Amino acid sequence: MSNTVRDPRKILVTSALPSANGSIHLGHMLEYVQTDIWVRFQKSRGQQCHYVCADDAHGTAIMLRAEQEGISPEALIDRVSREHQNDFATFGVSFDNYHSTHAEENRYFSELIYTRLREKGHIATRDIEQMYDPLKGIFLADRFIKGTCPKCHADGQYGDNCEACGTIYTPAELINPVSAISGATPEVRSSTHYFFKLPDFADFLQGWINDGHVQPSIRNKLMEWFESGFNEWDISRDAPYFGFEIPDAPGKFFYVWLDAPIGYLASFKNLCEREGLNFDEYWQEGSDAEVYHFIGKDIVYFHALFWPAMLRGANLRTPTAINCHGFVTVNGAKMSKSRGTFIKASTYAEQLNPEYLRYYFAAKLTAGIDDLDLNLDDFAQRVNADLVGKVVNIASRCAGFVKKLGDSKLSAACAEPEMLARFVAAGDEIADHYEAREFSRAMRCIMTLADEANTYIADAEPWVLAKQEGKQQQVLDICSVGINLFRQLMVYLAPVVPAMAEGARAFMKLDSLDWDSRQQPLLNHSIAKFKPLMTRVENDRIVAMIDASKEDLVEEQKLKETPRGPLADNPIAEQINVDDFAKLDLRVVRIVKAEYVEGADKLLQLTLDLGGETRNVFAGIRSAYAPEALEGRLTVMVANLAPRKMRFGVSEGMVLAAGGGSVENDGIYLLSPDSGAEPGQRVS
Ligand code: 2FM
Ligand code: ZN
Repeated sequence: MSNTVRDPRKILVTSALPSANGSIHLGHMLEYVQTDIWVRFQKSRGQQCHYVCADDAHGTAIMLRAEQEGISPEALIDRVSREHQNDFATFGVSFDNYHSTHAEENRYFSELIYTRLREKGHIATRDIEQMYDPLKGIFLADRFIKGTCPKCHADGQYGDNCEACGTIYTPAELINPVSAISGATPEVRSSTHYFFKLPDFADFLQGWINDGHVQPSIRNKLMEWFESGFNEWDISRDAPYFGFEIPDAPGKFFYVWLDAPIGYLASFKNLCEREGLNFDEYWQEGSDAEVYHFIGKDIVYFHALFWPAMLRGANLRTPTAINCHGFVTVNGAKMSKSRGTFIKASTYAEQLNPEYLRYYFAAKLTAGIDDLDLNLDDFAQRVNADLVGKVVNIASRCAGFVKKLGDSKLSAACAEPEMLARFVAAGDEIADHYEAREFSRAMRCIMTLADEANTYIADAEPWVLAKQEGKQQQVLDICSVGINLFRQLMVYLAPVVPAMAEGARAFMKLDSLDWDSRQQPLLNHSIAKFKPLMTRVENDRIVAMIDASKEDLVEEQKLKETPRGPLADNPIAEQINVDDFAKLDLRVVRIVKAEYVEGADKLLQLTLDLGGETRNVFAGIRSAYAPEALEGRLTVMVANLAPRKMRFGVSEGMVLAAGGGSVENDGIYLLSPDSGAEPGQRVS
């Protein structure tokens, strides 16, 4: 880089808006860390760079979850947004603005873009047929319909594909389809939908995709889609829906994916209002600002087709580039809840320093879309070897001598000016790698420099010289070089490990670690007392994190079982007739004795009085009832059930209880007749 002063670049950067329907996990975190590193690098270089994001707050899933929790969608999205922002702050992800798609700015831009598209004839309407839940009164997306696979007959499959055999079908083809929300049998109903006429933009998109706005591998994928042709995009959903109502279309709402990317504009607009920035400078057609969207490869379709077409149709500028990344795998496999490798950001941070992960991701990130494997052994080894063993080691080996021999002041002259100059010059290549999102290359360069610095100190052996008469100045000179080299490394690493860099900055009593600040060597410069800047990754913390992730899964399962309508997971069984029912002999009984069963943590042993006759029954109700609470109480039993031999004895019937649905007591509720009923009475 030459020293000519240039105007800073105007750069707007976004990461995908996380859904308000779930927690941030390490798979998400890769993207936020990647974007944050790039943004911090740009800011370090003096660019005018803004990083905005928001919660993606709309849609059916959020509406239903709020209902399930018994709160308003607004209360739910507020709570989740706070959780998300907390996770981001913990991982050092530093947005300039974090907003929500459920915000007035977003309503404004959604309506603006939609009406501009409509005025230009890019919106069509037509009636479509869809599955409808008559009990809930809502149309059902495919994933809200469950049934038996028409091919392999596996039960409990979702409306679009079978997880057991992989067959793809339509919900109408499912055998015995039920609404996963209410358990009702869905009906087919027709309603008017609004469509964005994407094919109107085919020529524009073809040019845009070939114009370097996406990575080459993404371009190829998009061209495949192109060849198969694309359809108009359904952008409306019927009420009830948590979102924005479409102008002049009562009861019709924008589909969540329509207003999600518009959330980038909304969040930026919100920032502009707060900080007095000029929104149009960034978004009007022909703007010379740069706009980058960092996303995962799974949502390319929305960002590289729909989004540029929408912007174009609404006379707004299109993004400079869509930067895609791959998925995170853990120990070589897809993140798995049962293996404990589906790790939430908060669960990670309870055990491990987030900067370990930032460094590890950086050390493996390229500009490509390959998946990134978080191999937990390699993770510990790499962080310990590089950050602790190489980088921190330089400062910790030198700091003591500078304090003792220089009274905490570095030498007045640099003893190794050529080496220091090489470290400064290396910054240009490292900067090129950062700019190109080739972070792993940047980290390799930095660690090569760290190796050189360590070799220099090891060869100079200041600890040996320190014991020799008259070598004090030489020792101070060597260690002052060491601190100067360490400073270069921290300038380069600061975008990746901001908290560690802050510690290093305070230790070196510097105003900043910005990229250009490294040009001036630290001579006659006082430093502070050295404190460990990073400790080693401990293996038992990794084990604890995996265990905690398994527990997260258990909690999640429980939540899923909370009332969303017990019919959802347990639909009504096949129909029977009166004769079938009459075969059951149900009787009122009194529980005369209830006892724990040794070795059975779910069972209670009940002695039942049927009005003269006594029965011994083992019932799986221990989690819900203490034995003493049951004695004397009436309930109902199946009296003509064939006796069943169990490990603990013979069970002579069965008591009736409701099951499933509640968290607190495993959802078990023993049935009881109103008071006054008598043991032995038949129930029919
Ligand atoms: O895939 C997702 O999780 C979406 N919430 C991402 C939205 S990105 C943008 F379009 F808002
Ligand atoms: Zn199947």
